[in-house]
Amino acid sequence: MDLNKIYTGNALEVLKTLPEGSVNMCITSPPYWGLRDYKTNPAIWNDGWQGELGAEPSFNQYINHLCDVFDKVKRVLKDDGTCWVNIGDSYNKKSLTLIPFRFALEMCNRGWIVRNVIIWQKTNATPQSAKDRFTVDFEYLFFFSKNKKYYFEQQFEPFKTSTYQRGLRNFTDNKSLNYQGYGKTQQKNFHQKVINNELSGRNKRTVWQIATHAYHGAHFAVFPPALIEPPIKAGCPEGGIVLDPFIGSGTTAFVAEKLNRNWLGIELNPEYAKLAEERISKNK
Ligand SMILES: C[S@@+](CC[C@H](N)C(=O)[O-])C[C@H]1O[C@@H](n2cnc3c(N)ncnc32)[C@H](O)[C@@H]1O
Repeated sequence: MDLNKIYTGNALEVLKTLPEGSVNMCITSPPYWGLRDYKTNPAIWNDGWQGELGAEPSFNQYINHLCDVFDKVKRVLKDDGTCWVNIGDSYNKKSLTLIPFRFALEMCNRGWIVRNVIIWQKTNATPQSAKDRFTVDFEYLFFFSKNKKYYFEQQFEPFKTSTYQRGLRNFTDNKSLNYQGYGKTQQKNFHQKVINNELSGRNKRTVWQIATHAYHGAHFAVFPPALIEPPIKAGCPEGGIVLDPFIGSGTTAFVAEKLNRNWLGIELNPEYAKLAEERISKNK
């Protein structure tokens, strides 16, 4: 298997050619249902339907096709591998389709374990014209694992300023006893770590505030690198392999390279694959 390369073709077919149990993690953003035309060649699906993923007449059929692709991803993942999928919701006949949750439920039916639902809150979300509902300013990032035990490098974020300030307090102050269930010994240990500057921070939370990222060469939304850095650091050891079966403009590839991981990409549209390769080599 050649590493650090984009394979051109339908992910459903290309994945069958990759060795079983070979990649550490998958991170991807598939085409959304009914949203964009990627001008790809029509792909042939397991149920005989021919067309572009996302252009199916019903969202149930789209979800089945998408989960068929992730069945193939599962075969290629190592037993301790994880799979991270960014997907947004959309409106149809006035109602939210709830496709992200229908998709996550079908993934569970097919044996995946859902470990987190991460909210990517867009700090620069586009204003919407609707006046009879709130403006949607987030998408989901689902974190699945293949098995109960999996590779995961814990990620940290800074504590709140007030937590550090509390940690600096003098423990002769009685008010500091039993703060939110933490006893005096725990607080003393925490205090010691704050003054010795030994804290890594707190376990990373699940609402991530990140601006969308413009990339002028692509006709679709690309990943902001900040969205995929924590999953790649958490889900793939250095020197391991990150897979993106819908690689688009190649963001997963250059973030993986920056973090000293190998990568494999799949893209149905040969023009996008070529653009992605140029973008990746420029980022080297
Ligand atoms: C949402 S874009 C991915 C964007 C990517 N995350 C980035 O940062 O550039 C989805 C990509 O999937 C590709 N695609 C659509 N159907 C596909 C299929 N069946 N197999 C592989 N790629 C496909 C589209 O051409 C498009 O480039």
